Amino acid sequence: MKILVTGGLGFLGSHICVELLENKHEVIVVDNLYNSKIEVKDRIQEIAGKEIKVYIGDCADEVLMDKVFAENAIDSVIHCAGLKAVGESVEKPVLYYQTNLGTTLNLLKVMQKHNVKKIIFSSTATVYGVPEKSPIDETFEVGKTTNPYATTKYMIEQILEDVYQADKTWSIGILRYFNPIGAHESGLIGEEPNGIPNNLLPYILKVAKGELPVLNVFGNDYATKDGTGVRDYIHVVDLAKAHVKAVEKINENHAVYKYNIGTGVGYSVLDIVQSFEKANNVKIHYQIAPRRLGDIDIYFSNPEKAERELGWKAERTIEDMCRDAWRFAARA
Ligand code: UFG
Repeated sequence: MKILVTGGLGFLGSHICVELLENKHEVIVVDNLYNSKIEVKDRIQEIAGKEIKVYIGDCADEVLMDKVFAENAIDSVIHCAGLKAVGESVEKPVLYYQTNLGTTLNLLKVMQKHNVKKIIFSSTATVYGVPEKSPIDETFEVGKTTNPYATTKYMIEQILEDVYQADKTWSIGILRYFNPIGAHESGLIGEEPNGIPNNLLPYILKVAKGELPVLNVFGNDYATKDGTGVRDYIHVVDLAKAHVKAVEKINENHAVYKYNIGTGVGYSVLDIVQSFEKANNVKIHYQIAPRRLGDIDIYFSNPEKAERELGWKAERTIEDMCRDAWRFAARA
């Protein structure tokens, strides 16, 4: 299939491109380089040994998107483009609603015009808000979100439902990601956040490199085995592989499919620190700091639906995630 990946040079998008190429799909990318670099194009091609076509620009640009669809017989879209920093979304809600909703609405409008009706959407587990318990499955209530970023993702899920209700020849896959970390095992692509990282693994990498002095562990008085927050970390390559399965699945039927993309296993902050130290033989200096506003204690998936319906299951271990993340960060 010929697949358009929006945000295809970003952390998740670049790994998705590689897996698509390795499964004999053709890849077209639209990326505005807001949080990515053009060199990633060469890295993707180097890993896969195949060419991709890249348009630099914004998915909210109707003229550009019209050109992309006119020049390429696109079968399916994987929509990763969007802003994703929780804290920033609280400070700049208008920017987040404008960007995430605006780009998606424009994309859908142009898709409709060109009669392309298959889309996989990058959603997030945070659409579940503060769940009553974990593991979280897809029947749990969504929408009680706790920040504008998560609300944009929830709203886009609703928009996609409405698009399907209005025209049941659409095929839509909504993937709710848990905590993607790691990097491609080649060490050629990975996560490169701008500035001081908000997320745990990118922060650990900066401490490991000596660029930040100490990791602040946000709270050690949660109701967890060691008091620190528990999350469902998933290797980005496993997550990318789920997209290949999902894009093939939505080709079978007209429907809205929703899947959790996680491992089903929760690790605490201290588990991650220890796994990182062990996998890479590097010491991570940390200190216990106050809880971070808005954090919850435990959050992990029930990924069985994806296994049952997509034949997909995360395979990489927490050590793989830590080792691969470090391999990329250490050379960058
Ligand atoms: N943490 C620290 N110190 C840090 C950073 C994080 O102790 O410097 C802790 C957090 O308190 C939490 C855990 O590490 O317990 C994970 O935090 P992250 O910021 O890495 O991830 P979150 O679970 O808060 O959120 C992430 C993404 C969201 C996404 C969500 C999906 O940031 O975009 O996972 O569950 F929506």
